[in-house]
Amino acid sequence: MEKPSKNKYPSVTHISNAEHIGIVKEIFSTITERYDLLNHVLSMGIDVYWRRFTVKKMRFFKTFRLLDVATGTGDIAICASAANPDIGITGLDFTWNMLKAGKIKISRKKPDQKIALVQGDVMSLPFSDNTFDVVSIAFGIRNIPDRKAAIEEMIRVLVPGGRLMILEMTFARHSLFRKAIGFYLNRILPLVAGKITANPGAYHYLADSIMNFPPPAEFAGSLEGLGLKEVTAHPLTFGITFLYIGLKPEG
Ligand SMILES: C[S@@+](CC[C@H](N)C(=O)[O-])C[C@H]1O[C@@H](n2cnc3c(N)ncnc32)[C@H](O)[C@@H]1O
Repeated sequence: MEKPSKNKYPSVTHISNAEHIGIVKEIFSTITERYDLLNHVLSMGIDVYWRRFTVKKMRFFKTFRLLDVATGTGDIAICASAANPDIGITGLDFTWNMLKAGKIKISRKKPDQKIALVQGDVMSLPFSDNTFDVVSIAFGIRNIPDRKAAIEEMIRVLVPGGRLMILEMTFARHSLFRKAIGFYLNRILPLVAGKITANPGAYHYLADSIMNFPPPAEFAGSLEGLGLKEVTAHPLTFGITFLYIGLKPEG
């Protein structure tokens, strides 16, 4: 049997978009079983607070519909449903194993919640223009090589005035925490992940993809460049993670 290698995946800076997508699909199909547990252990439970903060910033005003893309096992969808029981919620992901785990979690935790989980690709959303008041993506955007096209597609399905909300980890360039976070991402995280998951290489990919994601000011600028208005970047937990919010312009 092939032994899982810790450096199984090349850096995202050295691969084509097609290779990147292939790696993402392989990783999220193989770490599904322990994904939620690892999320909570590796973030020391703070990820729950980051998702709650995101949901508090959502605003429903026209269609009362939320689309959570790259929904994985549906944590944002579940949290949003608890806070807004009357809205319509769709979670979309291209990895069937993640959705399957999400469906089991929803039926166990919140059997009465109406959350539709759909298999699909962010790059080509199966929805009409101007459908959702809010489109969210949590820890998904760094896994998408063509970010510009993905963001344009998410803006397309938002109603004018609707909110695009992007929650993503970052690797501060000039921070006191930089060394500590680098050590954590490159050493501690794969070590702990190696004990829990069958694919520790996935957590080298995770560290690599975080370290190669653009810094917050640059990323927020790119959202403005794509036409979003009133773009804000909210640092969470000393800026380990940022919540970016931008409004689709009217008309
Ligand atoms: C790190 S997980 C995040 C899951 C969830 N949002 C959370 O907060 O835990 C990233 C997810 O993005 C999904 N994904 C990546 N690229 C995608 C794409 N182009 N279309 C749909 N899903 C995608 C993966 O399948 C995976 O489930």
